[in-house]
Amino acid sequence: MDVNNEKSNRLRLDYTGMMKNIFNPQGWTKEKLAAMQPQLTEAHNSLRIQREQGGLDFSKLLTEMECLLPSLVEYANELTCNFDNFVILGIGGSALGPLAIQQALNPYYYNELCLSQNPKRPRLYVVDNIDPDRFTDLLRVIDLEKTIFNVITKSGATSETMAQFMIIRDILRQNCGDDYTKHIVVTTDKEKGNLVPMIRAEGYRSWIIPAGIGGRFSELTPVGLLPAAVCGIDVYGLLQGALEMDKWIRESESVLTNPAQLSAVLSYLAWQEGKNISVFMPYADSLKTFSDWYAQLWAESLGKRVNRQGKEVFTGQTPVKALGVTDQHSQVQLYTEGPADKVVTFLTIEKFSSDCLIPYDKSLPDDIKFLGGHSLGELLQAEQNATEYALSLAKRQHRKIILPVLNACTVGQLLLLLMWETAYMGELLDINTFNQPGVEEGKIGTFALMGREGFETRKHEIEEYAKTFYVLE
Ligand code: PA5
Repeated sequence: MDVNNEKSNRLRLDYTGMMKNIFNPQGWTKEKLAAMQPQLTEAHNSLRIQREQGGLDFSKLLTEMECLLPSLVEYANELTCNFDNFVILGIGGSALGPLAIQQALNPYYYNELCLSQNPKRPRLYVVDNIDPDRFTDLLRVIDLEKTIFNVITKSGATSETMAQFMIIRDILRQNCGDDYTKHIVVTTDKEKGNLVPMIRAEGYRSWIIPAGIGGRFSELTPVGLLPAAVCGIDVYGLLQGALEMDKWIRESESVLTNPAQLSAVLSYLAWQEGKNISVFMPYADSLKTFSDWYAQLWAESLGKRVNRQGKEVFTGQTPVKALGVTDQHSQVQLYTEGPADKVVTFLTIEKFSSDCLIPYDKSLPDDIKFLGGHSLGELLQAEQNATEYALSLAKRQHRKIILPVLNACTVGQLLLLLMWETAYMGELLDINTFNQPGVEEGKIGTFALMGREGFETRKHEIEEYAKTFYVLE
């Protein structure tokens, strides 16, 4: 599908590998997809109404976020003058988006290069876990005087992030005296959570995560936009791409012209036919961490016990992260010959920003000589085409999202496409896409085990459960 006929930055969706073809006569036809239109139209209308009534803020607030950019970029530029390290303390949706965008749009070895660029930019560290060794190691490589910590948490209650914050706040107070607040910037809800009163009392600089946007949908708010701006990413381009994709999706009503409807119906039909696993496989190292963000989006949004009527449905498709070509030498064997329970989404960049020529040397053995004269980009492309062909030959369904180039605009489009696909998929499954009750249970259990007041009953329950463990010692 390429709605914009001119050469452009617009993403394309190649779904040949899902359809009937010479290898797979059982594949689908356009008529089969079109037969889903009544359900998709219902989903489209339901999403439109939700948006009009104050929901779907990931789409609705894009324009508002665009208006915020001048002040956010100005602040980010100030930081770049004063700090050499920008450390994100956050987890889940508060970390995966910033990581994905950084790796997609900045050089692979950004941290090694950024301080010698003109203008210089701080190194970025995203501490999205509480592994004590990793945390200790971080403190060994950063100079606190030259470091700013961005605490990102929507709820202001996530134990991991708050524990990190408490440690850092303490260390900064000991090392930086009264100036410690200058080393912390908080991104959180406007009114709710533990950080709000602390922002007021201690005077941290802060940015707001709009009320209706949950973690995994929050990349295009200050959650992701601030780190991106600090690291010199074109945040205007990011939002422009997002707005373009948003408009395309909202304004086109049919499955064969609306990329989110099409993506969702491909996923839905595959899932109905027993494809319980969704493999996300970019052919670009820069998009590797995008798979982490996608995996969270797909898993947390769609993995639900009950539908909107409260009936148990135990729904969702398991996301699997893979990387081309690396995982051709690891997972593709399973995809072609293992259980037919997967649908593969390739992500491909049509034109890389650089390439490397493989030299031709006629003295080399024939087995490798043929590579000479080609480039690494050509080899990557050939390997991807060959893998698609191999999957088709094995009657395994696959599709491909094509980014004409990798830039802020195409990445903004990709974010919105995947968010909207998830929203449509949630409608088709008739579930609440935007909550995560299963995650909340784990958070509550952690409060209990760590001795939070008011959670004593849960603590007792967990301790009783622990008595029943079977352990081989
Ligand atoms: O997508 C989500 O809602 C979650 O992954 C949250 O982002 C994650 O649990 C962290 O929550 P918070 O941002 O409130 O600290």
